[in-house]
Amino acid sequence: MECGQQSTEPRGSMADIPKDLLAEIKNLEDAFTIDTAKLKAITKHFVSELEKDGHETGTYLALDMGGTNLRVCEITLTQNKSEFDIVQSKYRMPEELKTGDSEELWEYIADCLQQFVEAQESERPPVEGKIPLGFTFSYPATQNYIDEGILQRWTKGFDIDGVEGENVVPMLEAALARRGVPIVVSALINDTTGTLIASAYTDPKMKIGCIFGTGCNAAYMEHCGSIPKLAHMNLPADMPMAINCEWGAFDNEHKILPRTKYDVIIDKESPRPGQQAFEKCIAGLYLGEIFRLILVDLHDNKDVHIFEGQDIKNLRKPYTLDSSFLSAIEDDPFENLQETSDLFKEKLHLSCNRPELELIRRAAELIGTRAARLSACGVAAICTKKNLQPCHVGADGSVFNKYPHFKARGAQALREILDWPAKSNPREEDPVEILAAEDGSGVGAALIAALTLKRFAKGN
Ligand code: BG6
Ligand code: GLC
Repeated sequence: MECGQQSTEPRGSMADIPKDLLAEIKNLEDAFTIDTAKLKAITKHFVSELEKDGHETGTYLALDMGGTNLRVCEITLTQNKSEFDIVQSKYRMPEELKTGDSEELWEYIADCLQQFVEAQESERPPVEGKIPLGFTFSYPATQNYIDEGILQRWTKGFDIDGVEGENVVPMLEAALARRGVPIVVSALINDTTGTLIASAYTDPKMKIGCIFGTGCNAAYMEHCGSIPKLAHMNLPADMPMAINCEWGAFDNEHKILPRTKYDVIIDKESPRPGQQAFEKCIAGLYLGEIFRLILVDLHDNKDVHIFEGQDIKNLRKPYTLDSSFLSAIEDDPFENLQETSDLFKEKLHLSCNRPELELIRRAAELIGTRAARLSACGVAAICTKKNLQPCHVGADGSVFNKYPHFKARGAQALREILDWPAKSNPREEDPVEILAAEDGSGVGAALIAALTLKRFAKGN
């Protein structure tokens, strides 16, 4: 194997593995490994797809509707541009809401905002009038105005009737009005845009905002003159505009991504088949499910001996394993994979022998490595299209922050795609560094809300 192909080397303890499992490990390696040449081809296709198309102060609220949590933040911007105060509360997004009805969703969100605002009011002097809110709504939305967001389609497993095709801002505002909560939604943004704006606020080298979480996406700044569909608006050619790539939908035509049979099943069984092809190979929502599908497939193959004589009914439940399960397997520090064995017992009531544990570990490494390497193609494509090297990329999301080796594997893939020479000093920065921008998107939403108010105040 060429040295760059896989950033995690197979474990050295494969010697005693029976032939059937070894053959399956080899099949999985063939299906999930993406070599440098393929990464470059994907990046090139990505570039061609991309071709298609202050000093604020005050107190602002940000509502961040991500994939896992609902976060409410109060951000106070001070005169010092590199500082802001942030107070925040996190609320779990209940699973049943994701496929429930629209009213329940907005009522739940309004309830969280009300609780937060009331708690804050007891801590600080009252804010006069309605508090401006920046709403991070992390789904594809059409925006003709900054305080509008017409949901194009749900992603990340959400499937709530009556919202697609609608502007979500009045829906939220109506729920707030019913409760008499003094908030006005002054800006709606995507989480990637929020991450980009907030990161660039404190680090001028930040040129791209990325989310590697339940979903996966990126935003960057473009000049209006380079956006053909804005040509009829006669905007100044050098006016900057944030582009939300919605790159989860990259290669929905299935022209370039090397999809495995498991990716095909994930797509077929999802609420929106045919959509989010790239995201379904790499985002946190799907990693555990790809892994589960592999194990069920191998168990049901009578030529392969895995979990023999055991009832795998718990493993048969779709989406029963999330990406934290895979993280724990990859993080197992013991040579005999004791923690992995305990996890399988606790969560799935399955006992694993040594060869099965080796296969499980290798499958997790292959899925996690493929996710990181494919993600790097998106970053490399934007850097190539915009000629951004050197730059910083601000990243957030559960996979980026918590999945073991994700950052190192992504950095290795970038090195291969963008042909960087070996570093002379290990502490030297790479030409493109992907850095954590934790809690960034809420801050970005508040900043944009602040800028919006300033613009209106000037009568622009
Ligand atoms: C959070 C950001 O940290 O990460 C959200 O504030 C973003 O805006 C989220 O949507 C993405 O991560 P996950 O794992 O919750 O999808
Ligand atoms: C999905 C959404 C996108 C969001 C991303 C990360 O891809 O469609 O809007 O930015 O998830 O949360």
